[in-house]
Amino acid sequence: MCGIIGYCGPKPAANVLVEGLRRLEYRGYDSAGISVLKEGNLTVFKKKGKINDLKSILPDHINGKSGIGHTRWATHGEVNDINAHPHTDVSGRIAIVHNGIIENFTSLREKLVEEGSEFKSETDSEVIAHLISSLYDGDLERSVKQAVQLLKGTYGIIVMHADEPGLLVGARNGSPLVLGVGDGEMFLASDVTAIIAHTKQVIYIEDGEVVRITADDYATTDLKDRPVDKKIEFISWELEEIEKEGYSHFMEKEILEQPESIRRGMQGRIDLEFATGHLGGLNMTSQELINIERVKIIAAGTSFHAGMVAAYLLESIARLPATAELASELRYRNPIVERNTVYFAVSQSGETADTLYAMRELQRKGARVLGVCNVVGSTIPRESDGGVYIHSGPEIAVASTKAFTSQLTAFYLFSLIMARMRHMGTDTGLSFIKNLESVPERVAEIIDRRDQLLALARKYSGAKDFLFLGRGINYPVALEGALKLKEISYIHAEGYSAAEIKHGPIALINETTPSMFLVPEDSLRDKVITSMKEVKARRGPVIALAVDGDQEIAGIADDVFYVPQSHELTYPFLMVVPLQLFSYYCALELGRNVDQPRNLAKSVTVE
Ligand code: G6P
Repeated sequence: MCGIIGYCGPKPAANVLVEGLRRLEYRGYDSAGISVLKEGNLTVFKKKGKINDLKSILPDHINGKSGIGHTRWATHGEVNDINAHPHTDVSGRIAIVHNGIIENFTSLREKLVEEGSEFKSETDSEVIAHLISSLYDGDLERSVKQAVQLLKGTYGIIVMHADEPGLLVGARNGSPLVLGVGDGEMFLASDVTAIIAHTKQVIYIEDGEVVRITADDYATTDLKDRPVDKKIEFISWELEEIEKEGYSHFMEKEILEQPESIRRGMQGRIDLEFATGHLGGLNMTSQELINIERVKIIAAGTSFHAGMVAAYLLESIARLPATAELASELRYRNPIVERNTVYFAVSQSGETADTLYAMRELQRKGARVLGVCNVVGSTIPRESDGGVYIHSGPEIAVASTKAFTSQLTAFYLFSLIMARMRHMGTDTGLSFIKNLESVPERVAEIIDRRDQLLALARKYSGAKDFLFLGRGINYPVALEGALKLKEISYIHAEGYSAAEIKHGPIALINETTPSMFLVPEDSLRDKVITSMKEVKARRGPVIALAVDGDQEIAGIADDVFYVPQSHELTYPFLMVVPLQLFSYYCALELGRNVDQPRNLAKSVTVE
């Protein structure tokens, strides 16, 4: 999704902006641009394509000390230079960058055109520049405040005016905006990765707030001009964590980091004395926890699949009714909030619009919503009633990998807490902990075997269609495997319960459509084998993920990748990692842009 950045300070703004835009690349984008104030005038450079394309049109030296930048993920209007941001007003003295969607842009545009504005682009965003211009009376901050009150929709914006050099004004409604407080320099950005190289002190701007920055100062106010006191927070992420550090891709780095990230998610959260977990951020007393009668999980994409695994686990070990639902669907079906139900909003970024808006809808109806998020300080954890940070460290590749296993870790701990409160004895609790604690080393073993997955990718990456099939707690993992493959390799892939294959997907089976079966050692193993045989009988190529020592599978499948033996409920960790690696290698084989696959965005901040 769009990324925005603004800078005021002593350094050449263009350099800071371009470097910041590079750090925002991971969000997914199709064009980029900057505007810098130079000798009393705004210079605007924007270009379809990647940051390097933008760099190729930049003069060697642009001396301006303040400016704004943008990476665009097209929503209104095709991908071209004109639709790229920044957008300017008719005079060319106001420039804006915008992340979000302005829903009433058509009516505003008509009115502004009647009043003499000439629009250059097809975007909804350009209307903001003209609107501010029509209200401008020498005070940029005031006109921004007036303008945003006329906007319907979502925005994180940064605005500059050639007549007020060295000043940037930012405003937020629904799209993230963070202020970076430096020493003699200030930053605004849609997320902290853009500015972490310069400062770790940040202030999160909330909806309805406006921020003005100059090189030495900042002020936050609401739309009624009342000052808003904000706390400076400290980002704990290190710069190295958002760099590739010798890996070919962020995705590779993030997959291989999982033994460590899963371990980190458990750190300080296991209570051996009482054989339970400890999640202080839930903000719930034991009495409140024991009163939970139902858990509902909302999320999108990979986080939704983690939520599905979690729901299965909660029912299985805590005997607590639990379901997972797509946040985007829940929001618009006038959800019924039941008493004694706890909701979880699961989101790596903490900014996904579908999940955030569904969470707000639930909260308005009186629900308690807990967040399970990775990005500290992002909107969902700030607005939720408590929750768990998964601590997987920055995830930069668009396709989510380590966040998935860290989300599982958080839910395994929560399930343990609930199970121990409701019925599970100490011994079973301790053995659950032992199994969970052994997951990182088993994941490391899988990673050590990754060459076999590379060989499988070489053999199968020419397929046009793929099926991923699993059952029980591994059914969502099959969905996740299919999602990973299509996201980064663009191979069409479908995930199904292996039981469902006979109800339709089997019609797709022929010699060129491989099926990836997840066959852990669990109570459904024999049923999965039956489905595998049905596919084989129709000459479909079969790859199986099975457990060390399971020779029977080798006799049925064309290829087998073995994972270490484990407790049956921990197989989602051990099944998903080979699927991530398989997709990664398929994408490499096909020469895809692994970290920034086409059309996708890391953090989808629009509906
Ligand atoms: C986008 C990303 C996915 C991600 C989904 C949910 O579609 O491309 O990788 O799973 O959003 O993101 P979240 O940040 O809420 O987990």
